[in-house]
Amino acid sequence: MKKSIKTIREELDRDGISILKGELSSSNLLKMKIAFESQLFLPRFNTSSGYQQNEKWRFLIEDLLTLSQEFYFPIYSEDLISVIRGYIGNDFQMTEARGWKTISTTKNFHGWHNDAWYDEAYYSSPPAQLKLGVYLTDVESGEFVYVKGSHLLEYKPIHMNDRQVKDLRLPIEFVTGSAGTIFLFDTSGIHRQNTPVLKSRNAVFYNFHDPSIKLQNLDLQYNRYSPLLLNASFLKNLNKEQERILGFGDTRYYSNKWYKEYRFKKFHRLVSYSLTLLLELNHIKKSLLRYKRFILFHICSFINFRNKND
Ligand SMILES: [Fe+2]
Repeated sequence: MKKSIKTIREELDRDGISILKGELSSSNLLKMKIAFESQLFLPRFNTSSGYQQNEKWRFLIEDLLTLSQEFYFPIYSEDLISVIRGYIGNDFQMTEARGWKTISTTKNFHGWHNDAWYDEAYYSSPPAQLKLGVYLTDVESGEFVYVKGSHLLEYKPIHMNDRQVKDLRLPIEFVTGSAGTIFLFDTSGIHRQNTPVLKSRNAVFYNFHDPSIKLQNLDLQYNRYSPLLLNASFLKNLNKEQERILGFGDTRYYSNKWYKEYRFKKFHRLVSYSLTLLLELNHIKKSLLRYKRFILFHICSFINFRNKND
């Protein structure tokens, strides 16, 4: 890590964001890119993995820790873990590992906000939550933008327009950078993805908070922050603390309502019926072929029989 733990911590405390560079080797970055891009070919459907989509401009890839060993890098970085532990507390865990491709657009689709995730009625100020962002492509536009120092205002979840952000009179960090750029930020600060996005952007985001925090209803409804899905082949040589950070054996965010609320329920049914129809047509086609072969066989047998007896 090029910046010292102390510097990163000071930047987080003062600005709410710290940009780290040189955390990833080029070979690890390449493996992450390949694994990520392998999921971008088509949306996830039936037996095929792929991306999820619930808005026009972003292709979402969940469960990064099932895709490639290299996505586990944060838990192997003692410095990074030390910073996160110091900021959130000893009981922090990695609670999400996902990423998305933002397609190029001039549409201003992602406004200023801070993250809504905890039960607002229960907490008088935002509980600590950090996100670790990693660019998998070079980002010169559509970059992550953060209003420095806005985390100290302790806003409850809020959306802001440009005028409101300007009125804060706080400096703004524009996180442009090459693939491999890493940044850590307090999600209670005001941030957004900048507009326009002139070139599509692939980025991943890890979420860290203490899972004793009560979640907002929307996240309970969609089963967000349910325990991380992991790939067994990647879980070698973990120490107890790394296992704890990944949430081994922790059921606090587990719900037996294992399915998510359906989005686009009617469309989902339509696609499901179409698949059933397609499988039925395939079945009929195979039956007709078998029937055709059966008839041809008997016609040929009959002709052979006639020829022998003539
Ligand atoms: Fe956000």
